[in-house]
Amino acid sequence: MVSLPILPTISTSFIILSAITMAIGWRQIKQKKREAHKKTMTLAGIFALAFFIIYETRTVFIGNTSFGGPENIKIYYTIFLIFHITLATLGAILGAISLYTGYKNKLAFHRRLGPITCIVWFFTAITGVAVYLLLYVFYRGGQTTSMIKAILGF
Ligand code: HEM
Repeated sequence: MVSLPILPTISTSFIILSAITMAIGWRQIKQKKREAHKKTMTLAGIFALAFFIIYETRTVFIGNTSFGGPENIKIYYTIFLIFHITLATLGAILGAISLYTGYKNKLAFHRRLGPITCIVWFFTAITGVAVYLLLYVFYRGGQTTSMIKAILGF
């Protein structure tokens, strides 16, 4: 059996949870359940934040892991990773604005932005899981270098 790294497995699980809760929240508002929608979307935001905190903590203290697969596909992995990071950044910004406009009752804007946020976040989650699989499951992860080690040089 492949042994999976703990922190990336936990943080990827949080992305999946936030995408699932967001899908539930979307369904709830389609059924006009406003209170339920608010609670579920807030939970989706908390899951996304949990992912981010774990991911960043690992990046600073343990490090990022390089791709351990074949050299000739490394470039495709890197392009895919950049695509995922771009989606995740966009998703985080849209998510924050969606939560804000929801809480502030700016609903005309919120209604237009909400579906875009959900779709961007679904793709963030799918590509995030793909990155995780490529990095740790399909291939063995490469070297891990921490930001602190990289900065301080030990
Ligand atoms: C990441 C967070 C959120 C996302 C992605 C999101 C997404 C959505 C979506 C997709 C819709 C349906 C738009 C439509 O098809 O008409 C919607 C509507 C709505 N959302 Fe959110 N939402 C979020 C957070 C919130 C929060 C925190 C609140 C309340 C505090 C809220 C309150 C509402 C209300 C009241 C509507 C109904 C608007 C209307 O029908 O006039 N949302 N949201």
